[in-house]
Amino acid sequence: MLTYNYYGHACFQLDDGKDKILVDPFLTGNPQASISDKDVEATYILVTHAHGDHVGDAPNIAVRTGATVVGIPEIVDFGGQRVKTIGMNLGGTVQTSFGFVRMVPALHSSGIAGGVACGYVIGVGGKVIYFAGDTSLFAGMKFIGERDKIDYAILPIGGHYTMDPVDAARAAELLGASNIIPVHYNTWSIIKQNPEDLVKLVKGAKVHIVKPGQSLELA
Ligand code: NI
Ligand code: MN
Repeated sequence: MLTYNYYGHACFQLDDGKDKILVDPFLTGNPQASISDKDVEATYILVTHAHGDHVGDAPNIAVRTGATVVGIPEIVDFGGQRVKTIGMNLGGTVQTSFGFVRMVPALHSSGIAGGVACGYVIGVGGKVIYFAGDTSLFAGMKFIGERDKIDYAILPIGGHYTMDPVDAARAAELLGASNIIPVHYNTWSIIKQNPEDLVKLVKGAKVHIVKPGQSLELA
């Protein structure tokens, strides 16, 4: 069984019953945060880029939990803090205790000199999950969906900094994903969206609207 626990904005955890993969752990200062950085559990922490609403509490949670932080080397270099890291880069695949992590492009700024933003394809619990991170729509999403059959695509829909529902629906089509979970909206008024717009626009995939603090069994 694989559980998606949504903690608000772009922070979620995938739990296969053994590993807890925490992604973009922005909790302190996150108006949607449904858990504290002091309580959240992790064995791995995946970071997509260095903007504060993504890297967030990653260093502190890694120190507390002993979790391994995965990301672009420039972004997961936390200035000498004793944190286990896997520095990798676009196109790379790393085998992990739960399955694999593949780092894929995202079209977005990195938030740090020398880094780039990324997304992840995560193989866990017999499922393939794609998290786009912060990104615009880009044609390469088609290739991401060609290499792996994407069971769940977790896509930003807030607009302004990322895709909006119109482009996220096109992304869903390019990816050929079976299921879509929208994130990165309604955290602040600048990224206000109605996720029902995505439901109306997406053809051929099921859209799951998960609220902060809610969980979804990924079937
Ligand atoms: Ni960003
Ligand atoms: Mn963001």
